[in-house]
Amino acid sequence: MNHFEYRDGEMFAEAVPVKRIAKEVGTPAYIYSLATLQRHYRVFDQAFAKVRHIVCFSVKANSNLALLRTFAKEGSGFDIVSGGELFRALKAGGDPKKIVFSGVGKKKDEIEYALNSEILMFNVESEDELVALNEIARGIGKKAPISLRINPDVDPQTHPYISTGMKKAKFGVEIKKSLETYKKAASLPNVDVVGVDCHIGSQITSLSPFVDALARVREYLDRVLVGSLQKEGAQIRYLDLGGGLGINYKDETPPQPEAYAKAIIEGLEGLDITLILEPGRVIVGNAGILVTEVLYLKENDAKKFVIVDGGMNDLIRPALYGSYQSILPVVETQAEKVVADVVGPICESGDFFAKDREIGRPQRGDLLAVMSAGAYGFTMASNYNSHPKAPEVLVDGDKYYVVRKRESFEDLINGEVIPAALQ
Ligand code: LLP
Repeated sequence: MNHFEYRDGEMFAEAVPVKRIAKEVGTPAYIYSLATLQRHYRVFDQAFAKVRHIVCFSVKANSNLALLRTFAKEGSGFDIVSGGELFRALKAGGDPKKIVFSGVGKKKDEIEYALNSEILMFNVESEDELVALNEIARGIGKKAPISLRINPDVDPQTHPYISTGMKKAKFGVEIKKSLETYKKAASLPNVDVVGVDCHIGSQITSLSPFVDALARVREYLDRVLVGSLQKEGAQIRYLDLGGGLGINYKDETPPQPEAYAKAIIEGLEGLDITLILEPGRVIVGNAGILVTEVLYLKENDAKKFVIVDGGMNDLIRPALYGSYQSILPVVETQAEKVVADVVGPICESGDFFAKDREIGRPQRGDLLAVMSAGAYGFTMASNYNSHPKAPEVLVDGDKYYVVRKRESFEDLINGEVIPAALQ
């Protein structure tokens, strides 16, 4: 459920007409609904109410400070994958004791920053990383709390670029090798083994991959890990199951958070552990849209094109994954339907929001809303073709706030220098 709805033929974000925002802040622009963000967070969190748990919102899905602040106020922790994301989470008032640091390539300065910030734990992805972590922690007189990210070799049945828990993925440690790695961790003086972690992919639309992954991790935990590690003096206190719950972009019917939680809670039975979840998309995906203006229409023998002012630089998902984003008119239209490609201004044939899409024939100046753009939209935006990044707007009831202003041309060259020799 989200708060982007038509009223008398016109799309509203909560109680604000999308047209008004577009007129006042320009296009393209990202618009988020605060009520939707809060609702999604609460529904997800409450679904796990029966068990001790921490929801760590995955910052990579949307890292705008105002959104992170919204989640921090709800009591959310954060799943981060870089020093930059840690900086954002802390700036937004995130509790470091609810921050988990994932990712295969953490650098020394990022690790030091996280150690000095006293985060909850590092999700370690290789033995090399473990050794480095121990050294870096020793260097600054700290002990690094760690979970090992286990790769359970489960097929999440999603796009290959966002499948992470299969053997061939770069992520995690093979389940059968992980006891060895755990033992190594337990022997390192500046590492403290506190948990197990697993994340199998994103935009997962059925329960079975989650259930299978949990069953594999659970079996391993019960049969191998707990006993072996207790002997080494380590105690597993956290089980991090990552993120990945899918949303409805087109005609998917992903499980509702309640069903997802129920399946996980069943799989945890008898385990005395704090559960950690790292949802991203399911919280923010359908809480945001990208509004863009139709610049031109064009047609040749083979195709019709609707050329809009937003492009792959603003929202790269269709270009990168061939993913479907629904496109709706901001003002409903009775115009005849046409089948057209909705494309941006970028000089790449891959720059499209939709291919062969049936839409009411728009006119120059019409506004279109690219729906489900709240996750992996702005965070993956770039300045390609030197387009300033779009603004981000947060709607709250009948008010809205620009929570990131549109970049200027000056912003584009910020930090660039023409060396004296070239002057
Ligand atoms: N935890 C870890 C370790 C992750 O790698 C990810 C996503 C998440 C949590 C959050 O997953 P979510 O709940 O959002 O599915 N750019 C792609 C998605 C990449 C996902 C990467 N990892 C897209 O636009 O579809």
